[in-house]
Amino acid sequence: MDTFVIEGGRRLFGRVRVNGSKNAALPLLAATLLTDDVITLRDVPDLADIRSMVGLLAELGMTRQDETPKGGVYTLKTTDPSACHARYEIVRTMRASISTLGPLVAKRGHARISLPGGCAIGERPVDLHLRGLRALGATITLNGGDIVAEAPAGGLVGATVFLGGAFGSTVLGTANVMCAAALARGTTIIESAACEPEIVDLATMLIAMGAKIRGHGSPRIIIDGVEELRGTDYSVMADRIEAGTLMMAAAITNGDLTLDNCPLDALLATTYFLDMAGVHVQPLANLAQSRQKVPALSVTSATSDPSRGDDPQRRSVRVTCDRVLRPVEVTTQPHPGFPTDLQAQLMALLCLADGNSIITERIFPDRFLHVAELSRMGANLMRTGSTVVISGVRQLKGAPVMASDLRASAGLVLAGMAAEGTTIVNRVYHLDRGYERLEDRLRSLGASIQRVDEKTLAPSELVSG
Ligand code: EPZ
Repeated sequence: MDTFVIEGGRRLFGRVRVNGSKNAALPLLAATLLTDDVITLRDVPDLADIRSMVGLLAELGMTRQDETPKGGVYTLKTTDPSACHARYEIVRTMRASISTLGPLVAKRGHARISLPGGCAIGERPVDLHLRGLRALGATITLNGGDIVAEAPAGGLVGATVFLGGAFGSTVLGTANVMCAAALARGTTIIESAACEPEIVDLATMLIAMGAKIRGHGSPRIIIDGVEELRGTDYSVMADRIEAGTLMMAAAITNGDLTLDNCPLDALLATTYFLDMAGVHVQPLANLAQSRQKVPALSVTSATSDPSRGDDPQRRSVRVTCDRVLRPVEVTTQPHPGFPTDLQAQLMALLCLADGNSIITERIFPDRFLHVAELSRMGANLMRTGSTVVISGVRQLKGAPVMASDLRASAGLVLAGMAAEGTTIVNRVYHLDRGYERLEDRLRSLGASIQRVDEKTLAPSELVSG
């Protein structure tokens, strides 16, 4: 298994482009099942989870038309509409496979999807997904660990459904119900829908395919079903979680980074709390207006629609921070609140703030496997239930640590870059699920980070367990 060897104390400087979003691309790829036409997705990140989803689609008769995708472009077309089984072997490695359920039931009339198990961050139930599809008339049974879903003979029928759960709405559950409703007869109202930008991205692509959707981005989405959906050519939104992670990487190393293709409009809670902590995220357009010296601007797209925040200037930001970070109190919330997927990264950053910070996790109350690992590096953390008090320390110390899930791994990499000495992050396959060659990109910005096979390291450098 691969590990990262990180020598701390290097400041990050330079310019990097934010990749297409994993959490947008996965439901967008699943939604290609809704049409028989050719469909092209652009700016798809090259990640383990994406490769798993494309492999699953191939098993579901949705095949790539371009042999080897170049530059994140995937052109797909249904070649076998009879396949409808998402096997446990794939689903257990990538739980977002569940997002094929709604499209399959709507387009092919039936689906057999292995129940996704839990994972390191929590139990991950799918009861809300099933609630939504049952409301549209699907018959759902569980058989041998699989969800077996059947649409009525005449197809799904629009309905009003409340998708709220104990922890707020469900992102992939909203995606499933919105996709299914797009081809249902009649109108569907999703009350307590997820408002995440990735849902807006999915709705935007569905509308480009001919779907009739309004209210996306708000808690109430209204979908008027249509007979069929056509193909389209669509670019995936930029990855707000990767952008937030890079912002915190700049801050934790006291660096100066410029991020291109940054979805600033989807990160307002994040930049609010970062600013409170003393991390400054400034759109280059503003900097240009204030006539400050700015790095040469890369135009990310020839045409841009400032109203959609596509203006290259608006989407290039510069990240700097105060010498001493201030403590903050943050609770993770559904969008537009502070995202749970940046919680571990923020915790790593606040380990070095001057005072006591508090982080409360409202989405996945057990999403704290990074706490013990950060403590191994000298962080002063006290967890009580779903809350952690972070007492800032002057310096973290490098140590061998264990990655447990995607975003905890990112938090450990950030801590390692700021720590004194060497940090070994074991099991970085977790990181590869959501970040494209992160070590290469950080190294290009000045970090000392190498990917090595754990077999080349002394036993004392590996963390057991
Ligand atoms: C998406 O997962 C993201 N994954 C997650 O990112 C993200 O953390 C999560 O949304 C919350 O923002 C993808 O988009 C691929 P949920 P999803 O359904 O849709 C409970 C990452 O690191 N719930 O919104 O599966 C659930 O237990 C990943 O990139 C139910 O109770 O999450 C959780 O407490 C990790 N019943 C809360 O709702 C259900 O049927 C939010 O879950 C579904 C969810």
